[in-house]
Amino acid sequence: MARLWSTILLAAASLAMVSATDEPQYKFEGNDAINNVAGNAVAANPAANPNLPGGWYDPEECYGNYCVYASHRAANGRGVVAVTTSASFEKLKRMDKSLGVPVPNEKEAVDPPLYEIKEVPGRGKVLVANTTIKRGTKIVVSQPALVVHRKFMDDEEVDDEDQERLLKIAVDLLPEDTRKHLLARLVPQGEAKTLMELIRSRPFEDNLGLNWAGPEGYDNEKNLFAYPELEHIPHHCQPNAAFHIDMAYVHHTTAVRKIEAGEEINISYFSPMMLRADRQARVEEWLGKPCTCSRCTGHGDLGNIAKSDANLMEIEAIEKKLRDYESKDVTTAMLSRLLALYEAEGLKSRYSDMYELLAINYNALGYNKKAIKYANLAVQAGIIEDGPDSNDVIAMRILAKSGLEHYSWKMRIKNQRLA
Ligand SMILES: *[C@@H]1O[C@H](CO)[C@@H](O)[C@H](O)[C@H]1NC(C)=O
Ligand SMILES: *[C@@H]1O[C@H](CO)[C@@H](O)[C@H](O)[C@H]1NC(C)=O
Repeated sequence: MARLWSTILLAAASLAMVSATDEPQYKFEGNDAINNVAGNAVAANPAANPNLPGGWYDPEECYGNYCVYASHRAANGRGVVAVTTSASFEKLKRMDKSLGVPVPNEKEAVDPPLYEIKEVPGRGKVLVANTTIKRGTKIVVSQPALVVHRKFMDDEEVDDEDQERLLKIAVDLLPEDTRKHLLARLVPQGEAKTLMELIRSRPFEDNLGLNWAGPEGYDNEKNLFAYPELEHIPHHCQPNAAFHIDMAYVHHTTAVRKIEAGEEINISYFSPMMLRADRQARVEEWLGKPCTCSRCTGHGDLGNIAKSDANLMEIEAIEKKLRDYESKDVTTAMLSRLLALYEAEGLKSRYSDMYELLAINYNALGYNKKAIKYANLAVQAGIIEDGPDSNDVIAMRILAKSGLEHYSWKMRIKNQRLA
């Protein structure tokens, strides 16, 4: 498959001239397959002649199961391209529906922006708040410009040259401004030297479904999404903002605490609940540099790191008990302890699940007022962390309203009596 594909492209490469002038910073070093696309009038302007419904374009450039798709209309005309399977592509078409239409119940980001993009020595460009940002304020809303199937990124399935070649074909199908913007990030000495590195440097993943893969069971459709507005929001393990990706693949970044003017905005790219060694490995693997935030370095004190890991393990043990309706020894002290551990670890970007456990367990222990208090807090945190339509937010709204009638009311007391 791979051989055949590159032979065709090589033959086509000599037919066309490529306008390399727009891309001063990016030197493409594989087989210059893009000539094939650039030389084809339809391909060079997919918006003019979409060959799929909804303004999508399929130039039939594939590697194995992974093909290039493009739309100039998606993301309000900024365009999006994908290197993915046909199954994932079917799901991506949902982006059409969100053309210019905000997702129901999702607030748009505040306009004008509450931040400036500033150059910080040693860190490049970052978003810095230029006014006080209240908790719960939507800071950035972004639609993807590039989508790549996780398995296409897997070295065992596709080699580096082929990855880069197909990505380049895809990126060249973007509207000019979007393409220039993406390619401007490829700098020889910067964090991204190739398109693959560019995608890996801001890894946002969404699973677009499960497919029956025969006797081995189901295969997933994980894809990575590149969001132009997220380029300047770095990773931090005690971040001041949280994000979620909605049904139309729109990325929402929301303040998890009050952010003062002058503070940088950051999010956690990886679960802050992982033990330090795992978080460290994840950051190295994806971002290519060590994690330098205080929960990773312990302010240079190994004792702090051990303490932080012990806290995380205690959180895990308590949560396991709180999730199990059969646990016999759940106490209110355990609930206060859980809250204190989250506070100690600075896990403000992950409070919704914790509040939810407190709400249900207070109710189960017969403390209705506390249950309602934490259910309301879970709703607030859930909107920030998962969006207003998430199942947890809906479940906590129900608990907040129905406390005494809720299935969880005094459930642990009944269980304990039974025991
Ligand atoms: C903050 O910066 C944005 C530009 O990113 C600007 O539009 C806005 O007016 C600024 N706000 C304040 C309060 O300076
Ligand atoms: C994250 O934001 C905080 C608060 O502004 C800042 O102190 C910290 O340096 C930022 N971290 C990174 C990695 O940008």
